[in-house]
Amino acid sequence: MNPRIAVLTASDAAALAPAVFRLYDEVFGDAESFESWREQMFDRHRARDGFRLATATADTALAGFAWGYVGQRGQFWSDLVERTLPPEATSGWIGDHFEFVELAVDPGHRGGGLGRRLHDALLDGLTGRALLGTTSDPADPAVRLYRSAGWRTLGLLDPARQVMGRELP
Ligand SMILES: CC(C)(COP(=O)(O)OP(=O)(O)OC[C@H]1O[C@@H](n2cnc3c(N)ncnc32)[C@H](O)[C@@H]1OP(=O)(O)O)[C@@H](O)C(=O)NCCC(=O)NCCS
Repeated sequence: MNPRIAVLTASDAAALAPAVFRLYDEVFGDAESFESWREQMFDRHRARDGFRLATATADTALAGFAWGYVGQRGQFWSDLVERTLPPEATSGWIGDHFEFVELAVDPGHRGGGLGRRLHDALLDGLTGRALLGTTSDPADPAVRLYRSAGWRTLGLLDPARQVMGRELP
């Protein structure tokens, strides 16, 4: 069955936290516990302006998700990017940008276009500029997806991590 895509607001996303965490934990495996992930990441991001969560649901199970929000100076990641990349690389990019934070597809659903559909759904209707942080490995599936969707490298945070930017319509 072709998974259904939905885009949820911050308040509607709250109830999905356990399901999003299950998949997040399977894909990234870097969270200490559900409680710390929820408090320090998911709920913190949900509270930010413009938060949206794109979900892909197959039958009743979550097959993938993506989320982001409107980023500002004074936030950890925005400030890290601004002080690490050369000023000419980030000029005009930071502040009121859409921060594309996470994208994950269940391993059993990969390779069928779901990652791209989630990416497109998350950005649908947005204007301005968008930023994301990802691996600097050009062969990584996510980097290939982003590049083919119009993202370009703005600079490196360190040798293993890059910042990508995209002009939205
Ligand atoms: C990145 C990810 C979301 C892609 O999901 P997916 O559903 O498999 O992606 P799609 O089928 O929509 O493929 C979209 C594009 O991604 C790239 N891609 C996907 N899988 C790939 C692979 N195994 N090798 C190389 N490129 C790949 C291709 O450019 C592909 O476009 P194409 O089909 O026209 O060649 C998925 O691999 C994933 O969850 N990875 C782990 C989490 C992660 O790295 N997230 C990003 C954090 S920044």
